Amino acid sequence: MKQGVIFPGSFDPVTRGHLDIIARACSVFDRVIVSVLNNSEKKTLFSIEERLIFLKLCTKHLKGLEIDHYNGLLIHYAKFKKVKTIIRGLRTINDLEHELVMAKINKDLSKNSIETIFFTASTKYQHISSRLVKEILKLNGNIKTIVPKEIFDTIKKQLTKCSIDTY
Ligand code: PNS
Repeated sequence: MKQGVIFPGSFDPVTRGHLDIIARACSVFDRVIVSVLNNSEKKTLFSIEERLIFLKLCTKHLKGLEIDHYNGLLIHYAKFKKVKTIIRGLRTINDLEHELVMAKINKDLSKNSIETIFFTASTKYQHISSRLVKEILKLNGNIKTIVPKEIFDTIKKQLTKCSIDTY
């Protein structure tokens, strides 16, 4: 059976850092599911539909990749997808504490059936986060080097509709 992994996240929006990890995961695993948390209680800048479109646009070239969404507990979704491995990215030491807790909770809740493995961010993307993208967007800054090139124009168009300018 093909070894599958889930890369879960908010992806609000997907960044070059995310894309780097997705591409690297695809080179290691036969089946990679990038899944967007669809939680109406969590306030996001982009809708679930927009976040999925952004991901699809920038991952067209990758084989063995599925773009999906989930709600509820990640471990329930993983069981539904018949996947036992979650991958998460680690940028700096600041990510570590939170990620270790999440990995432990998911392992315990799944009665040790789900493992989390970490991909360390490539050095050039270590400073990038979706939060940073949103902050720069709100202050009318340029996100060209932070979001994947395939989605830059689409993000610009989306935000012009909501009257946030980008340069
Ligand atoms: O991109 P993010 O916001 O860091 O991703 C966090 C995410 C979505 C992976 C995590 O919050 C999640 O899976 N939430 C779903 C609910 C759940 O399973 N919680 C228990 C583990 S933290």
